[in-house]
Amino acid sequence: MSKYVIRPNGPLKGRVKIDGAKNAALPILAATLMTSGEFTLEYVPNISDIHVMTQILNSIGVETEHHEDKVSLLVPEQTKTEIPYCLAKNIRASNLFLGALLVRNKKVSVPLPGGCNIGSRPMDLHLKGFQAMGAEVSLSQGSVVVERGNLVGAKIYLDFPSVGATENIMMAACAAEGQTVIENAAKEPEIVDLANFLNAMGAKVIGAGTDLIKIKGFAEFNPVNYAVIPDRIEAGTFMIAAAITRGEVILENVISTHLQPLIAKLTEMGVEIIEEEGSLKVIGKDSVMSTIVKTLPYPGFPTDLQSPMMALLSLAGGTSTIVENVFENRLSLADELKRMGASITIEGHTAIIEGVSGLKGAAVRALDLRAGAALILAGLIAEGKTEILEANHIERGYYGIDEKLNKLGAIVEKLKE
Ligand code: EPZ
Repeated sequence: MSKYVIRPNGPLKGRVKIDGAKNAALPILAATLMTSGEFTLEYVPNISDIHVMTQILNSIGVETEHHEDKVSLLVPEQTKTEIPYCLAKNIRASNLFLGALLVRNKKVSVPLPGGCNIGSRPMDLHLKGFQAMGAEVSLSQGSVVVERGNLVGAKIYLDFPSVGATENIMMAACAAEGQTVIENAAKEPEIVDLANFLNAMGAKVIGAGTDLIKIKGFAEFNPVNYAVIPDRIEAGTFMIAAAITRGEVILENVISTHLQPLIAKLTEMGVEIIEEEGSLKVIGKDSVMSTIVKTLPYPGFPTDLQSPMMALLSLAGGTSTIVENVFENRLSLADELKRMGASITIEGHTAIIEGVSGLKGAAVRALDLRAGAALILAGLIAEGKTEILEANHIERGYYGIDEKLNKLGAIVEKLKE
């Protein structure tokens, strides 16, 4: 286990290049299984979630090479049809292999990903989609087993615009006869990136980015080279870092339309944001105003930036409210921030935050990926030393966050716990 030791060092200043999007790269890596041949993927972040995904691909027969932000893959005609639990248990995104493997195999088995700190993470919507297309779904030895039979295109309504379910159904529908329609589909930019990747391979997906996606099955696929979109959540995390330290940071390799919910919220709070072609300049002010944040599926405020926002709102003037509408248990960061002097009350899915004049360094735990990143932001301005234990959670989604912050003037040390 690793830990981060952080000491305050004033406003962050300088430029930071944002990596490719973890949550676009993960489904795209799974989607390479929909055909065979050589792929080159660029802007793939060098993070542990990606490493687990490529290890899973290796375990079923795919050769991969990850050099800096490039991943090359050689997908054989035949691959194994069972994902090993010892690897799948490490990341939720392993469930995305179901849809991709269904395109090439009649029967697939993927371990049910466990829950995690932010919620139970059910898969009912994924499985409902496969069954609507005629697949047989069963549970055996803790794994979901899907038998394809003859998949036929169907109209599928998602009770919740689930990102993973939309992605899994989109991939499986490519092997279904006729047209599949996904209603109330997720609209995240990562869905659009996956659809663009599928279409580049030869699929016929239209409507990605809207709540109505249509997929025409039985397309011929070919391997492609592809560059993943920038990571809007990493970008948002650095924007909040600039705001919380009252710094001036230029973010490179960003798509500002993907960040509109955060840009609007930070502007409302008094932070100055200048949008330029492919970059964003964030200028923090001496104080930020309190506000109300309600997380929602895209284009609402992203749940993945809720924790970093909680750290910033802990220091805002007045009382702020956060309502977490996406995951049932994603406010646990409050307990760690309270150890640093924050004043936060949790009532159900709502956090009520009384702004305080400052935070004090303490030993805290990274309960999940985004909560861990939020604690780094709190440590940048807390008085004295902050130690963040179980920091490997953070490295699941942020490559070299310590080095990137130190280049902006922070003092973040990475040590063995
Ligand atoms: C994706 O998770 C992201 N992960 C998450 O990012 C992100 O927070 C989430 O989408 C929401 O934007 C990846 O893309 C790898 P969902 P996913 O299915 O697909 C419920 C991060 O920090 N639900 O949209 O698992 C579910 O319980 C991670 O980078 C069902 O009820 O999210 C949750 O309450 C965390 N049944 C809500 O929908 C289902 O079958 C949203 O889940 C599926 C989901």
